Amino acid sequence: MEKKLKGLIQELETKLASIETVNDLNLLKAEYLGKKSVFNDLMKQLKDVSNEEKPRFGKLINEAKQEIAAKLDSARAELERKLVASKLKSEAIDVTLPGKSVNTGSKHLISQVIEEVEDIFIGLGYTVKEGPEVESDKYNFEMLNLPKDHPARDMQDSLYISEETLLRTHTSPVQVRSLLENSNQEPMKIICPGKVYRKDDDDQTHSHQFTQVEALVVDEKANLADLKGTLLFVAQKLFGEEREIRLRPSYFPFTEPSVEVDVSCYKCGGVGCSMCGNTGWIEILGAGMVNNNVLRDAGYDPNRFQGFALGMGVERIAILKHGVDDIRAFYTNDLRFNKQFRGK
Ligand code: PHE
Repeated sequence: MEKKLKGLIQELETKLASIETVNDLNLLKAEYLGKKSVFNDLMKQLKDVSNEEKPRFGKLINEAKQEIAAKLDSARAELERKLVASKLKSEAIDVTLPGKSVNTGSKHLISQVIEEVEDIFIGLGYTVKEGPEVESDKYNFEMLNLPKDHPARDMQDSLYISEETLLRTHTSPVQVRSLLENSNQEPMKIICPGKVYRKDDDDQTHSHQFTQVEALVVDEKANLADLKGTLLFVAQKLFGEEREIRLRPSYFPFTEPSVEVDVSCYKCGGVGCSMCGNTGWIEILGAGMVNNNVLRDAGYDPNRFQGFALGMGVERIAILKHGVDDIRAFYTNDLRFNKQFRGK
């Protein structure tokens, strides 16, 4: 009996030495300790053993079983350790390898400037609005104090879709839309960024499509001084805290009085240089007090309400801020241009 048990253990050891998987190990476990294992036969044989010998044999069998169980356990632990080690090896990451460069996109310079302008106005309590690019003649012109035969219509060569619809020539129709929408005639401060279209031949300084930001404030006391303060604040945010502004009389049918706004040259500080044509000033936008006719047509009593409006060209601001020398660069999507303005 003792020999037989020793033989069994040795046999198991040789088999254990050649197994490779946990599955092999499970099969061995079934073979040696399972229901149909050799030990079952041995236990059966126990009943033929004399009573004096029984306890000793029983003990020997149990010890052999325990030894086998222990050997199987340690073989399992070893297998698992090897498995983990090989996994660690095969899945190891060499952190010293150079990484793959990922090409990320970035915002277009025009979008960046729009957001910059939006942030300035949002900081002043304005709401951002949108309006359609295909607009009615009524909102684009008529209700902005530009009746059909008005000579100032020539100021903006238009792209008509039909007799009554056109691609908006400016963002000012949003003034009309906002006034009409605000039926309670609550105090209002809005801006509207968006694309506008004009029948122009594209060249270095002209584009048939460009971008504007409109601003409109209407309440019972908004006055020219408020407009001036707003313009100074916006100009300083865009071009630097040391900037000054200058208002020159101008003409827009929808504002009265109308002004053209200049900012002191940020390149020469106002002394005069090639940037500002030696004047010390750079024109940045048009503005004015909302014309009474516009208020009246939108159902506002001009004796009670007043307001101011301004419209700026986003490309112009971007050109000035970033020294872009051809407006077409914004639309031709040359990556060498776009990548120079990746933002923060
Ligand atoms: N809409 C005018 C333009 O496109 C700009 C402007 C807007 C002027 C608002 C005054 C007030 O030229």
